Amino acid sequence: MEAIMAENKGRTKGETMRNSSEWVLEDRGADQFLVNRQVFISDDILQKEWDVIFRTCWIYIGHGSEIRNPGDFRTRKVAGRQMIFCRDKDGAVRAMLNVCPHRGALVCREREGNARGFFCMYHGWTFQTDGSLRSGPGLDAYGPKFDKASHGLVQAPRLEHYRDFYFINFDPNAVSLSDYLAGAKEYIDIVVDQSPSGQMEIVSGTQEYDIKANWKLLVENSVDDYHIITTHSTWINYMSNSGVDMRRPKGSLLPSLGAGKNLGNGHLTTDNPNYRGRPVARWISVYGEEAKEDIDNIRAELVARLGEARAARVADTNRNLVIFPNLVINDGSSVTVRNFTPVSPGLMKVTSWALGPVEETEAQRARRLHAFLTFYGPGGFATPDDVAALEAAQEGYAAWREAPWNDLSRGMYKSEDDQLDTDEGHIRTFWRRWKDLMETAA
Ligand code: FES
Ligand code: FE
Repeated sequence: MEAIMAENKGRTKGETMRNSSEWVLEDRGADQFLVNRQVFISDDILQKEWDVIFRTCWIYIGHGSEIRNPGDFRTRKVAGRQMIFCRDKDGAVRAMLNVCPHRGALVCREREGNARGFFCMYHGWTFQTDGSLRSGPGLDAYGPKFDKASHGLVQAPRLEHYRDFYFINFDPNAVSLSDYLAGAKEYIDIVVDQSPSGQMEIVSGTQEYDIKANWKLLVENSVDDYHIITTHSTWINYMSNSGVDMRRPKGSLLPSLGAGKNLGNGHLTTDNPNYRGRPVARWISVYGEEAKEDIDNIRAELVARLGEARAARVADTNRNLVIFPNLVINDGSSVTVRNFTPVSPGLMKVTSWALGPVEETEAQRARRLHAFLTFYGPGGFATPDDVAALEAAQEGYAAWREAPWNDLSRGMYKSEDDQLDTDEGHIRTFWRRWKDLMETAA
């Protein structure tokens, strides 16, 4: 490893690294795990990520609650492709390319709505909600061999869901979504168990913002509890001044106490005791005295339905769950479903939604949305500070030739089972998966 590091350090301007085995270096003997900063700034590497990671992994497209009724649709860019996520007139969920089979124009230019079909504004072809070609001006002119059936919208090769979270895959031979999700399913189950009926819904309204940083930095940041005490000192001071005991454990101010977990296939999570309250079933003073009885009642329902131990698992723990490669479910003071996509090596687009049980009352929903807005929101306590940290790191990577390595070795001397959320063990599992996929492609 030292030899490779020394060699790369001496490389001259314009020279690229030789192969992907040099991007992530792991030396278990030396308890050292390094990621080359070129992976955050290289156009070639991003192109390879599009070809490999975003084409062969299961990529989140949306939640079933967003398209409840036949004809409901959402358009969004997923894995770099313009997609229509909709429920067709027969009630089947569809994921189709928003690309006209004629000459490629978008066939739906609305972000969301309810439609009886889709209309291409360029030459006027129209499509059913299942993607089949319905009509077009003068289609006879194509002659008798024109096959209408083969001129429908292209369906995503694979579309599967788990607990109403829908994912697509452009690799027809990919493993099932269930196998792909591996240990992440257990954590999705904990999130969904908040709802008495097992039905969660995306709350109307979307947060969208750009971060001038590489998309993989948000994977790391979403589960990096090492940064909390410094990056989020404003929030910690606010919470402490609001009467919340932020000292964990034994008087330490470091808010770590949970675990960082490898869930298989590149998925990972933090798994922490809750100390900052949950709108579902864990009251703290910042919610106000008037909310206490309501929150206690929610907890009683959880205990009656799930038993004491499972209720405590749902109510008294938080998790920031990363589904490889680009979906994060933050389940803490609110539930945030956060999706992010690269635009260029140094720019990503972030979209996030609040998720909540369908049964929530107006007051309960208001508490949830308040937390969604004030903590993880783009103007909240957490996100602006995270964005500043990520953009500062991205700035630093311009000097990748002279200062080539990120160090992710924290906690590496310990076993996998002993990794804290403030260690970097769970983040290493992301990088190992990333490296495996990129090397397979090479
Ligand atoms: Fe759509 Fe021509 S590009 S009808
Ligand atoms: Fe943060």
